[in-house]
Amino acid sequence: MPSPSNPEAVFSEDVVRVSSSSKVNQGRLVRSLKMLMPWRKGPFHLFGLDIDAEWRSELKWRRLIEHIAPLHNRKVLDVGCGNGYYLFRILGEGAKYVVGIDPTRLFFYQFRALQQLFPKNNAFYLPLRSEQLPSFNSFDTVFSMGVLYHRRSAIEHLRELISFLRPGGELILETLIVPGDASTVLVPHHRYASMANVWSIPSSAAAETWLTNLGMSNVRTVDTTRTGFHEQRKTQWMQFQSLDDFLDPNDKDLTIEKYPAPTRAILLATKPF
Ligand SMILES: C[S@@+](CC[C@H](N)C(=O)[O-])C[C@H]1O[C@@H](n2cnc3c(N)ncnc32)[C@H](O)[C@@H]1O
Repeated sequence: MPSPSNPEAVFSEDVVRVSSSSKVNQGRLVRSLKMLMPWRKGPFHLFGLDIDAEWRSELKWRRLIEHIAPLHNRKVLDVGCGNGYYLFRILGEGAKYVVGIDPTRLFFYQFRALQQLFPKNNAFYLPLRSEQLPSFNSFDTVFSMGVLYHRRSAIEHLRELISFLRPGGELILETLIVPGDASTVLVPHHRYASMANVWSIPSSAAAETWLTNLGMSNVRTVDTTRTGFHEQRKTQWMQFQSLDDFLDPNDKDLTIEKYPAPTRAILLATKPF
């Protein structure tokens, strides 16, 4: 991996980017980053090279940033941080520091590669599962985006997230949801949108009720968005199947297993004092 001198990074815009006045060996850069494919989260612009990832992660960020407590000077934890795209966006909002955790080794390697290219910063990464963390009771803001439905016990996951927050801290929970009321939770048979590791998908009302029952206050859903082909798609940097392959070819409102097509919600909640 090249390590150009005096890199300058911008974390506060849709595309997380870095540039340098010194010359960068493009061939070496492309080869190193291609070895780390598939790139699922982005976009990144690295010394002239665009990484167009499977997910346009900036769209979710735009949906949530207006609603959450300002991140300036906050201590932030991002559970299930993937390659760290949002860790950099969190720093771009002026957070004091951010810790990402994620057990998937490839995403950790991608983060390490990015950190070799970026100037020294306060984004840190632990290649762990949230179950392995202690009850910090100290973070000002905790993000869990795209993790809830991968956990065998959604309630246990929520309990962990709450235990990481300081009293008065804010939880940002982003998850797949299904239509329905507070009593609706989909438990897929084997797969949901081709994913084998989806254990349950609540309605947003059910997820709100879980958070309220766990003692959180000010619980609300601030955004609900159906995932579109502009947001999740196959690219040069992620050449496996993507959203289009996971939907019913005859009815794009359904997954190939005939469940409601992927729709995601952003919920906020505050840990009481
Ligand atoms: C759908 S991706 C979401 C990535 C990112 N948060 C986003 O919103 O784009 C889910 C991520 O959660 C991670 N993950 C799954 N189980 C986890 C756990 N128990 N603790 C922490 N991360 C987990 C996966 O490795 C994966 O990177």
